[in-house]
Amino acid sequence: MRGIILAGGKGTRLHPLTHSVSKQLLPVYDKPMIYYPLSLLMLAGIRDILVISAPESLEAFRALLGDGRRWGLRFEFREQSEPRGLADAFLVGRDFIGGKPSCLILGDNIFFGHGLPGQLRKCARLKTGAIVFAYPVKDPERYGVIELDSRGRAVSIEEKPAKPRSHFAVPGLYFYDGRASNFAAGLKPSARGEIEITDLNLVYLRRGELRVEEMGRGTAWLDAGTHESLLQAANFVQAVEDRQGLMISCPEEVAFRLGYIDVKRLRRLAEAIPNAYGEYLLRLSREPMGGKKP
Ligand code: DAU
Repeated sequence: MRGIILAGGKGTRLHPLTHSVSKQLLPVYDKPMIYYPLSLLMLAGIRDILVISAPESLEAFRALLGDGRRWGLRFEFREQSEPRGLADAFLVGRDFIGGKPSCLILGDNIFFGHGLPGQLRKCARLKTGAIVFAYPVKDPERYGVIELDSRGRAVSIEEKPAKPRSHFAVPGLYFYDGRASNFAAGLKPSARGEIEITDLNLVYLRRGELRVEEMGRGTAWLDAGTHESLLQAANFVQAVEDRQGLMISCPEEVAFRLGYIDVKRLRRLAEAIPNAYGEYLLRLSREPMGGKKP
């Protein structure tokens, strides 16, 4: 399965923070925002990853991430010249996806929860259809909203409805079969001029091929697109990391625990970061908690 991180957009809600820096490069406590969705794809077992961003930001992502080899991954980068909508990821990334199943994650979505890696690994085995998640929120009108029947099957999906039919939001994490690019090519722009991910999901829903996975209250889903939510996300990460002494979404750690890199490589990566982050990696290389998986 191929992974895509959509990390473009104008970030106007965060100006002036994002005047000359991409939102997804801003810090969320101790690491760049993009590390969180990246680690999530890694936990799903995905190693071929495309980063899509605005032309003026792509070099900064390349400088941060490189080609992925040092983490046992493979990164590619593509420009999205204008924010044409989330479903545009499947057009920009068409050749990268190459008709294979893919997983899209938004670069400002942060997930953390017990049992999540196992759930994601199962989703990554998808061959036909699509999978979205349903997550309870108190302000569904800000999101794609999914209505479920009594057996948990999707009945409707609407993008930011004024009168939401349920309190389940669809987080920015989606799994699709190999037809996503073809279906995306057939979408018409919405009233706000974007090709909507909700419309792509509707294509699968109408064909009876949309699966919904519940993402329960045991999982934290945060998006970091406003000043308040950015600070909340940082506070959340700080509180959990400080309590547990374990990092949230540290790609070096995930790569090590999944066996993508060995202890020697981990030590070398650690030595290149002369601060608490590097010390954490060094400690991990000495006592990897019995090699326990994340
Ligand atoms: O966060 C989950 C929500 O994300 C979903 O529930 C909605 O269904 C989905 O439409 C989306 O809603 P948002 O209003 O959050 O989307 P926004 O336009 O803010 O874009 C999300 C991120 O993707 C943002 O960080 C910018 C980036 N982006 C956006 C567009 C439209 C791009 O990189 N390219 C784009 O063309």
